[in-house]
Amino acid sequence: MIWQRTHYCSEVTKELAGQTVTLNGWVNRRRDLGGLIFIDLRDRSGLVQTVCSPETLAEEQYRAAEGLRQEYVVSVSGTVQLRPEGQANPNLASGEIEVNVQSLRILAESKTPPFPIDRQEDVDDSLLLKYRYLDLRRRHLQQAVIARHKIAHYVRNFLDAQGFLEIETPMLTKSTPEGARDYIVPSRIHPGKFYALPQSPQMFKQLLMIAGFERYYQIARCFRDEDLRADRQPEFTQIDLEMSFVEAEDVMNLMEEMMAGLVRAVTGKEVKTPIQRMTWADAMLRYGSDRPDTRFGLELVDVTAAVAKSEFRVFVNTIAGGGVVRGLNAKGCGARFSRRDIDRLVEAAEQFGAKGLIWFNVGEEVKSPIAKFLSDEEIAAILAKLEAASGDLLLLVADQAPTAADVLGRIRLLLGKELGLIDENRFDFVWVTDWPLFEYSEEEGRWVAAHHPFTAPHDQDLDILASDQGRVRAKAYDLVLNGIELGGGSIRISKRDVQMRMFEALGFSEAEVQEKFGFFLEAFEYGAPPHGGIAFGLDRVVMLLTGQDSIRDVIAFPKTTSAMDLMVGAPSAVSAEQMRELKLKLDEGK
Ligand code: AMO
Ligand code: AMP
Repeated sequence: MIWQRTHYCSEVTKELAGQTVTLNGWVNRRRDLGGLIFIDLRDRSGLVQTVCSPETLAEEQYRAAEGLRQEYVVSVSGTVQLRPEGQANPNLASGEIEVNVQSLRILAESKTPPFPIDRQEDVDDSLLLKYRYLDLRRRHLQQAVIARHKIAHYVRNFLDAQGFLEIETPMLTKSTPEGARDYIVPSRIHPGKFYALPQSPQMFKQLLMIAGFERYYQIARCFRDEDLRADRQPEFTQIDLEMSFVEAEDVMNLMEEMMAGLVRAVTGKEVKTPIQRMTWADAMLRYGSDRPDTRFGLELVDVTAAVAKSEFRVFVNTIAGGGVVRGLNAKGCGARFSRRDIDRLVEAAEQFGAKGLIWFNVGEEVKSPIAKFLSDEEIAAILAKLEAASGDLLLLVADQAPTAADVLGRIRLLLGKELGLIDENRFDFVWVTDWPLFEYSEEEGRWVAAHHPFTAPHDQDLDILASDQGRVRAKAYDLVLNGIELGGGSIRISKRDVQMRMFEALGFSEAEVQEKFGFFLEAFEYGAPPHGGIAFGLDRVVMLLTGQDSIRDVIAFPKTTSAMDLMVGAPSAVSAEQMRELKLKLDEGK
C-alpha cells in the first residue's frame, strides 16, 4: 500500500463519491457505535469522518482501529460514500460524505494530550504555552497562522509589483533609538563589548536609501525590552519599508492602496479610500487619543470659553493655571443611568487620573453637584456647547489639556463599549498626521523624540526647533485601525545640519552624537536623497484582520507577559564555560 495522501481531508467532497482516497492526519476523535468505529481525521485543511467496519476491514486492522486514541497519526485508505440521510454536517467542507476505511496504518502513537485538542476548554495559559505545538494543532491557531502567511504573501506581492526590493538588515547591531530598552548580546571576540538587537531597521533602511536602492522593504523582526501588553511582544515583526524622492502623501497613498487590498483579500470587506486624515491635534481634541477609535461618535468638546467667566473655583483655578475644561455628551444616559452608574463613571475618571468628573443630568431641570456654583447662563452655555437635549448626561473634566483629553478619551471608550456603540464588523482606518516632533518626559526631565530622532520637522517649524520644542510639528503619520496603532512612519531628516540640530535639541552632547550616530551623520555628507517610509506591526495587522484579541494568538511561538518562552524554557542560565569565554561575571549581590 502507498500510504501517502491523495487528498487533504477538506478536499474529500461528494464529487469524489465512489472513489478511493488515501488520507494522512491525526485522530481528532474516535467513537465506537455498536461495531462501527467512527474516526474524525484531522489535517491542516480540516476534518473528515471515516468509518471502520468489521465487514470491510481485515480483523487485525479493525483491532488496530479499536486501539486508536486521540492524536494518533494514521494513514487511511477507503471509498468515499455519501452519508446517510439527515447525517450531513453543514459545518464541514467534507460534511456530506464519509470515508469507508479499507486499510489503516498507524504512523505514530500519542500520549494523552495535557488538554483536549478537539474542543475549546478553559485551560491554564501556561500549560497551553508549554505545549504550544499541541495548542497550534487547534483550529483557531491553525487559521491564524495560515492567515498570517497569506497576509505576508500579499504584502510581498504588492510591494514587489511596486518596485520594492526585499533587503535584509543585521540582527547583531548597534542600538536603534525607538524608545524602548535594548536586548544586548555579549561579544566573545571583543570581551566587554556588546551588540544590540535592532528595535527596528530604521537606520539601515535610511542608509539603503543613501545607497541608492530607492524602494526597500522587509518583513523584519524587531526586539524591544518593554512592558508587555496584549498588543506588544518583546520580539515582533514589522512590515518595514522606505522610499526615496517622496513626500508624506506619496507614502500614505501607496500604503492605503496596500491596506485596502489586503483587507479585501483577507476579509472580503471594502475600505473606503482615501482613508480619512486627521491631525494629531484634532485627534486629541475630538477623541482624547492619538489613536482614535472612529467607529462611533461621542466626541469630546472644548467648553473652556463657555465657562471662562465662571466663578466656580475648579474652573477658575484650572483656567488660570493654563488648563482647559472639556466634556462629552453621553446621549440618553441621563435618563438611563442610576446615581450608582454615574458614581462609577466618576470613580473611573479619578482612576484615569482626573481630579474629578463633573456631571449634568439634563431632565426637566438640570441636576448637577455643581449646579449651585453656576449661573443659569453658564449652565445654558455648557448645554448649548454640548448640544444637550432632555435625557442626556454631560460629563466634564477640568485639567491640563493632556490629562483632560486622556481621561475623557478613556471615558469615551468605556461608554462606547458599555452602550454597545461599537460596530465590531467595521474596519475604520484613520491617518493621524502632523504629530508633535517632541514630547516632554517627566521621568527624564527633558524633551524626547515623539517617534525616533530621524523624523523630519515641518519646514515652517525649523526656526523653533531649539526654542519652542512643544510646538514643533513632525512630518509623521500613523495609521490607526479601530483604535489600535497599526503602523507609523515619517519623512526623514535628509540634511546633516538639521539632523545635528535635532540631536542637540534632544540634549545629546557632541561626543555622544559622534559615538552613537557618527557613521550615520557622515553618510549624509555623501548625497542623501529626500526619503521617508513607514513600518506596520505585522502581528497587529493579523490580529485585527482575523478578529483575535491578542497578538499572542497570531504568533506561532509567542512569549508570556513576563517575556518567557515556556516551551523551550528561555531565558535560561548559561554554562560557567560560556561565561568564562565571554569574560562575564554575574553580580550575585543583588
Ligand atoms: P514604531 O516604533 O511606531 O516605528 O513601530 C511600528 C509598528 O510596530 C508595531 N510595534 C509592535 N508590535 C508588537 N509588539 C511591540 N512591542 C511593538 N512595538 C511596535 C506597532 C507600530 O505601529 N522605525 C519606525 C518606523 C518608521 O519610522 O518607518 C518604527 O519602528 O504596530
Ligand atoms: P469639590 O468642590 O472638590 O468637591 O468638587 C466639586 C465637584 O467637582 C465634584 O463633583 C468633583 O468631582 C468635581 N471636580 C473637582 N475637580 C474637578 C476637575 N478638575 N475636573 C472635573 N471635575 C472636578
